[in-house]
Amino acid sequence: MKLPIGISTFSKIREDNYIYIDKTELALRIINNHSYVFLSRPRRFGKSLMLDTLKEIFEGNRELFEGLYIHDRYDFDSSLTVGDVARHKMGLLA
Ligand SMILES: Nc1ncnc2c1ncn2[C@@H]1O[C@H](COP(=O)(O)OP(=O)(O)O)[C@@H](O)[C@H]1O
Ligand SMILES: [Mg+2]
Repeated sequence: MKLPIGISTFSKIREDNYIYIDKTELALRIINNHSYVFLSRPRRFGKSLMLDTLKEIFEGNRELFEGLYIHDRYDFDSSLTVGDVARHKMGLLA
């Protein structure tokens, strides 16, 4: 059993097969219901990992979510990266 001690990078946890407690239902609820969220929890409660998880969702990295709650419940193709948004603003992306 590989515990992700001290790791708050979602891709590292998933790619290197660390234990991940599926919090993607919570992530989806945040995405669908809230514009602003204040994560008020003591240290080591998973705030940084949750933020990194949201980053991966918004960047559309569906492959990292294989087998997790959100995998077939979120339109990963609709995700725009920061780079996409910048290109869109410059008129380079329709
Ligand atoms: N959903 C999860 N599944 C497995 N381990 C987790 C999960 N969320 C957090 N952890 C682990 O708990 C520890 C603290 O997480 P972290 O995101 O750094 O917390 P915080 O930012 O609140 O201090 C890390 O070792 C991290 O890998
Ligand atoms: Mg943190």
